[in-house]
Amino acid sequence: MSVFQADILHGHVALITGGGTGICRGIAEAYLRHGACVTLVGRRPDVLQAAAAELSLSTGGQVLGVAADVRQPDAVADAVQQTLGRFGRLDTLVNGAAGNFLAPAVGLSANGLRTVLEIDLIGAFTACKAAFDALQAADDALVLNISATLHHHGTPLQLHASAAKAGLDALTRTLAVEWGPLGIRVNAIAPGPIGDTEGMRRLAPGDVGERMRAQIPLRRFGTVAEIADAAVFLRSRAAAYIHGAVLVVDGGQVIAPPSLF
Ligand code: COA
Repeated sequence: MSVFQADILHGHVALITGGGTGICRGIAEAYLRHGACVTLVGRRPDVLQAAAAELSLSTGGQVLGVAADVRQPDAVADAVQQTLGRFGRLDTLVNGAAGNFLAPAVGLSANGLRTVLEIDLIGAFTACKAAFDALQAADDALVLNISATLHHHGTPLQLHASAAKAGLDALTRTLAVEWGPLGIRVNAIAPGPIGDTEGMRRLAPGDVGERMRAQIPLRRFGTVAEIADAAVFLRSRAAAYIHGAVLVVDGGQVIAPPSLF
């Protein structure tokens, strides 16, 4: 049962990159359940179309799936146009498309670094540019970037993703200053470890996850639904004056020192 009014996003239209899986699929589901229409954008047509069909069925909402790689500006521009064609407007862009793997810096090629920067950072920039005209035309526009907390420390094996998410936070703040006067709010969510996601399965193998959990002040992983709640809140009028913020949703992980006792 949602803590939000059921129709809190009625009439909104959101385009969500990376919306076919994981955290961003959860955000899509929450937006649909609260009355928004949603375009899912992702690289894999089969995954995307399955997600669109399942979400449409489970929420009764209107979902459009557009297969596009955020590294292809024309494909992203086409996804925006398809959204406008289907739903007539675009109020919210969620930049969630991301790529990651574990690699020590000495084992990371320049192309490996570039690939993650191109997806996470330049992909978000590309989507922002593609959506700009539509967002500016909306009454109450929001760009919501999905960041991380990796770069708040020197996280080993994550140079590429840390650099990309640090850049995404910079993009969040700069666009907030440039686009705020145009009526576009720009914020980010920085999720901590979220259970039952591909990211946790791939990036915290073996007993790493358990050791991580023991260091989190709330002593548990977050849930996809908890990140989705934060995304609904930031989309809602309750967050009308929150702008340029990176909202950390991590059970306190990032502010906790290594536990000594
Ligand atoms: N360790 C080191 N380098 C790696 C790597 C790994 N595990 N995985 C990819 N790379 C490097 C490749 O070696 C390549 O560099 P090179 O040309 O110098 O060899 C570069 O990254 C591009 O790899 P490629 O597989 O051709 O790119 P891609 O566009 O097909 O996929 C990712 C890139 C990052 C998206 C891919 O790792 C992936 O599909 N990951 C799963 C999905 C995902 O990351 N989801 C997010 C979970 S948080």
